[in-house]
This record gives sequence, C-alpha cells and structure tokens, in this order.
Amino acid sequence: MPQPVRKAVFPVAGLGTRSLPATKSVPKEMMTVVDRPIIQYAVDEARAAGIELFIFITSRGKTAIEDHFDQQFELYHTLQQRGKDAQLAEARGSELPTGQFCFVRQPEPMGLGHAVWCARHIIGDDPFAVLLPDEVFLSRTPLLKQMIETYNEVGGNVVAVREVEPALTSRYGILDPAGAGDGIVVPARGMVEKPAPADAPSTLSIVGRYLLQPDVLDHLDQAVKGAVAGAGGEIQLTDAMAKTLGGHPFHGMRFEGERYDCGDRADFVAANLAFALARTDIEAPVRAAAHRMLDSGVAGPQKQAV
Ligand code: UTP
Repeated sequence: MPQPVRKAVFPVAGLGTRSLPATKSVPKEMMTVVDRPIIQYAVDEARAAGIELFIFITSRGKTAIEDHFDQQFELYHTLQQRGKDAQLAEARGSELPTGQFCFVRQPEPMGLGHAVWCARHIIGDDPFAVLLPDEVFLSRTPLLKQMIETYNEVGGNVVAVREVEPALTSRYGILDPAGAGDGIVVPARGMVEKPAPADAPSTLSIVGRYLLQPDVLDHLDQAVKGAVAGAGGEIQLTDAMAKTLGGHPFHGMRFEGERYDCGDRADFVAANLAFALARTDIEAPVRAAAHRMLDSGVAGPQKQAV
C-alpha cells in the first residue's frame, strides 16, 4: 500500500479575470453554486477522501475564504438563541478542524506551479493532493475518493483525465499515454501544457485534481529559481509534473461524473442547474422552471447582448 495522502493544496490566489465583474470584490472561489461557495465543494470532496490537512494558497482580498471555514460566534449565538438548529448545523458544516487548515500567501499570481510551490514547506516529504476549486464535479463517488482508490492500487502520481474535442486541446494540459492501460487507468509517458491540436499527443485533458509525490516540488523549485533569474512567465505545474516522469509511476484516471468549470460563464450556470437538479429539496421547482423557460421561450424577448 503506498503512503496515504493526508494533505491537500487548494490554490485560491488567482485573479478570476474571466468572471468579472462578479470577482471584482468577491473571490471567485466564494461564488456560489446553489447555496454554497465553490471552494466548499472542493473541501468537502477532500474530506470525503480522508484529507486531514487543508492548505490554501491565498492572496490579497481573499479573507472571506478564511472566514468561511472558521467559527462565527455571533451568528452561532443568534441562531442558537432563536432555536434555528438546522441553520446552525448548516453554518457549522463548513468549519474545518482547528489546527488542520492553514493559509499561505502567494504574493503574485505567477501560475499554478508557483502556487503549489508556495506550500512546499508544509507538504514536506509527503504525497499530496491538489484541487482546483473552480472545477466542480458532480459524481456518485467524490472524485478525489475515486483517485485515492486508484492510487492505492498503482501508487505514484495520479491525475484525473477526460476526453476533449480535438480542436480544444490548446486550452488544457494534455496527457501523452503510454498505451491504453485498462481503459480507465492509463499510464503516462509525457504531458504537454496547452498544445495546438496538431501537436497534441492525445485528446486526454488533465482536469483540476492531482495526487502527486513530493519530488515534483524539486522541479518547481528549479522553475521558480529560473524565473527569478529572468526566464519570466507563469510557472506551470504540468511542466514540473512532466519532469518527474521516469521516477514514480504516473497515471491518468478517467472518472465517473460530470465536470463544470465555474470560471466559464456558461459552465457556471450549467453547474448551478445540475447541482440544483441533484438536490431532493429543490429539484422539482427548478425542473419545472427550466421546462417553462425552454418550452415557452420565455427567455427570448428579454435577451441582452453582452
Ligand atoms: P485559473 O487560471 O482557472 O484561475 O486557475 P484564475 O487565474 O483565477 O482565473 P482567470 O483565468 O483569471 O479567470 C485555477 C486555480 O488556481 C488558482 C486560481 O485561484 C484558481 O482557483 N491560481 C491560479 C493560483 O492560486 N495562483 C495562480 O498564480 C494562478
């Protein structure tokens, strides 16, 4: 059995420029899908997978995230006094255990690789997970749990992958598979960040969930030193992961479930609809409203050009 994964990194220091104006003063990770901020979906997914230390990579203007996972005495007190037990339980549900979560500042958004590098002293020599919170997944088994099950069998590094349209490879990190594996778990011999369709080694895109061995941090360290020396640009996690190949095994894992990128406007709206339809308390009215709008074309006359 490989060493258990107990630490998870949540990079939340990005600018969220694709989601403006919503993200002008509200962190993208605090935008809500149905009734909870998107960061809470990632944290709950990590909890369900057995994560015990939650490391947030944060930046200026993101303190709402810290407050969300902390206690809120005034609110709890008021809810208690008013006998609102269900609401109190909801509010307390997002608390993380004392001493098991921390926030590390990334002074400048120098890329995902740089964000993960900021956690290097807390990760130490342990395997760790990275969850990009703007990607939410609707699945029967939480995605990170699916990955841990695979990791327990194959060890090393495991990244979640899914097929994309050939024309869209330039938006993603793309896996270079070394064979088909068992059709679900695919061994990797390489990976490329955002290749043009003609240069893409496959159409298997790496989504925002990673289980990594700590040696990737050495490669990030070299990349950061290179950048300080004048190479410039963002520090890519994919490049550092590619450099670890040949050491520990590296697998892509196709997963059960749907992915929504909340940084994309249409996907964010779709995520709200999908998660609402998956909730027994509001499914019926949401379904009825969606049908009404689609059947009667009610949204048509009010269309606004943006
Ligand atoms: P994205 O590229 O999707 O987020 O990074 P972004 O940069 O905030 O969004 P846009 O493109 O400007 O709209 C994925 C995750 O990685 C974090 C982001 O906060 C997001 O959760 N990130 C990205 C960092 O923490 N630091 C970075 O330097 C870059």
